Amino acid sequence: MSDSEEAADQGQVLVIVTATVGGFSLLIILTLFLLITGRCQWYIKSKIKSEDKKRTQYQNGHVPFPGLKTYIDPDTYEDPSQAVHEFAKEIDPSRIRIERVIGAGEFGEVCSGRLRIPGKKEIPVAIKTLKGGYTERQRRDFLREASIMGQFDNPNIIRLEGVVTKSRPVMIVVEYMENGSLDSFLRKHDGHFTVIQLVGMLRGIASGMMYLSDIGYVHRDLAARNILVDDNLVCKVSDFGLSRVLEDDPEAAYTTTGGKIPIRWTAPEAIAYRKFSSASDAWSYGIVMWEVMSYGERPYWEMSNQDVILSIEEGYRLPAPMGCPVALHQLMLLCWQKERSRRPRFNDVVSFLDKLIRNPSSLLTLVEDVHSFPESPEDMPDYPLFISIGDWLDSIKMSQYKNNFIAAGYTTLDSISTMSIDDVRRIGVSLIGHQRRIVSSIQALRLQFLHIQQSGFHENWSIYPEEPQ
Ligand code: ADE
Repeated sequence: MSDSEEAADQGQVLVIVTATVGGFSLLIILTLFLLITGRCQWYIKSKIKSEDKKRTQYQNGHVPFPGLKTYIDPDTYEDPSQAVHEFAKEIDPSRIRIERVIGAGEFGEVCSGRLRIPGKKEIPVAIKTLKGGYTERQRRDFLREASIMGQFDNPNIIRLEGVVTKSRPVMIVVEYMENGSLDSFLRKHDGHFTVIQLVGMLRGIASGMMYLSDIGYVHRDLAARNILVDDNLVCKVSDFGLSRVLEDDPEAAYTTTGGKIPIRWTAPEAIAYRKFSSASDAWSYGIVMWEVMSYGERPYWEMSNQDVILSIEEGYRLPAPMGCPVALHQLMLLCWQKERSRRPRFNDVVSFLDKLIRNPSSLLTLVEDVHSFPESPEDMPDYPLFISIGDWLDSIKMSQYKNNFIAAGYTTLDSISTMSIDDVRRIGVSLIGHQRRIVSSIQALRLQFLHIQQSGFHENWSIYPEEPQ
């Protein structure tokens, strides 16, 4: 073999060896790559699975009863639209007939209408719409309420029929509640119901709240304005969506720590350090009881939010509304205990109200109209000192009765503070709602006078048994 042939042979061998080694290395790299990515996928999948499991098991720190489903916070989904589709049915918009506008929400109009359900007759519905020009965040916040509501199934919680997300406008469709929100419904029908009817409404709300607390959902904005009433007086809890709801709620005010909170309805620990829980919902429930028994009166009347916070801190609690059974006011006071662990749970509230309904004579003892002083006089708030009767009547929007008071000889606030409901009727206030408003305010005045008179006495008296005496 010549030198040149030998060199060519060596070249060929080198090419073959290089190709073989290269191919083999490529094979090894490819195998390693497949192994690593496969392993990663398996790892990611198993991680997601265990996160999902954790999420369903321990939502809101709530450990569910075996067999009871638990609320899942839609914010724990990386993609919130996945949550909507998991918990809400997509409705074909051709099945919806919008009839009229019934209100305005933060995101757009609220309408009434009809929904055709295949194989069934049309049902009346309320339709919340998302107005055009929304941002992705607004769409997500709007649909969050549906992701929450879609998880609930209880006769005292507003039922979600479904959502429209695949066409415009984006909509949330819920069952229609003929009598609208509870606060305005009660104001419109002041004095029209029996105590048993009112307790029935409260029982329904407590039952809805029991369901929510059992599945680990904390409402945070329980108030009569967020309860809907149907044509059978059935009350259902509505307005879900946590922070969004508070943005939407005209009662929510900014606290010093920057949170937006409906002060008059909120437990002190939730105002002070955002400790929201089913126990803080129980506090709000006590306020709803007071709203119901006073036919939609504003809690703490015209007091400022700051005065409400200070008065609660000092131990003041709302007095019983006119004509309120003692048993109900006592339940309210239990809901307003400073120490949250001492407040009743919603199942206790339901059992207690059931007992009252079964034994109506327990509701006959009323807290005496104008003699219903809370037990601790020095725990009273400082009400604004009105200068004249005119100012006082203006503050409760009853100035049309100024001449009635003057003509009957009531010329000072001191004399007014002694008036009974009969005196108020006698001077010519005939509308029950107006009598109620004036008497509530007279109660507040009496408390203030009593507070002033007795300051210095009972220094160590507290309505809280657990507080140092
Ligand atoms: N307003 C808001 N939601 C409503 C509903 N579901 N029914 C009636 N009025 C409403």
